Amino acid sequence: MDNRPIGFFDSGLGGLTSIPYIMKMLPDEQIIFFGDTARTPYGSKAVSTIKQFTMQIGEFLVKNDVKMIVIACNTVSATCLEDLRKAFPDIPVIGVISPTAKVVRDTCTEADRIGIIATKVTINTNAYEEKILQKAPELHLYSKACPAFVPLIEEGIIDNEIMDLTIRYYLDDFIKENDINTLVLGCTHYPLLTENIRRLYPEMKVINSSREAAVAVQIELEKRGMLAGPNIHENVFYASDLSENFVNMIQTILGKEKEELNIQFKNLDI
Ligand code: DGL
Repeated sequence: MDNRPIGFFDSGLGGLTSIPYIMKMLPDEQIIFFGDTARTPYGSKAVSTIKQFTMQIGEFLVKNDVKMIVIACNTVSATCLEDLRKAFPDIPVIGVISPTAKVVRDTCTEADRIGIIATKVTINTNAYEEKILQKAPELHLYSKACPAFVPLIEEGIIDNEIMDLTIRYYLDDFIKENDINTLVLGCTHYPLLTENIRRLYPEMKVINSSREAAVAVQIELEKRGMLAGPNIHENVFYASDLSENFVNMIQTILGKEKEELNIQFKNLDI
């Protein structure tokens, strides 16, 4: 049993989409979340910059005595997972790509036409293709970077016409030309677009990396005997820029009032 917190982080608020799954599946676990809202988006930045930011966040979480680090960001998982593991060899580090790729392998067949949508950096690494095709070379994969999604989501532009047009701009031709029937949301911000996607493409099967991150945490903690026992705890949500929008989005994603949440400002860029 281990009652220390689990450290989650993302470039911004997207990684928060994993938190409700964890809270439901593992209610005894304390969560420390860091969203790098001052420097988001990461998905179009140089990999060297992403690595520098990631190491700062890793150190911050380790100073907070976390028992596990969860990279609730596909872009960082695709580029910095091994660096984090090397830097903090005593702490399990979980990324989102392997667990999501496993679901794709386990639930899709040769008859499916699978579209992977993610940031530019994630798509450029081919991380999903490698992880999926290594063990399931028969699957048909198509990928598409959708770089405008994250900035719009961080601005809270979701449930409206601008987002619908942006989704159609990236996905209409991609889906039609490749006859896509399954979309892998290869960015933890994208589950916030699930309703738009379901409305625009009602037949589409959707695979969500935020849920898979939570499942991977449960499996890993169980395997290592590190699950928390019953305890009283408070989850803490840090952001490097505490904008009104970030606070609103936390409330929306977690379905709680601001007063019920411990939200704190933390600048790591020093
Ligand atoms: N949520 C991050 C991901 O899963 C977004 C990356 C970004 O900041 O562009 O890739």
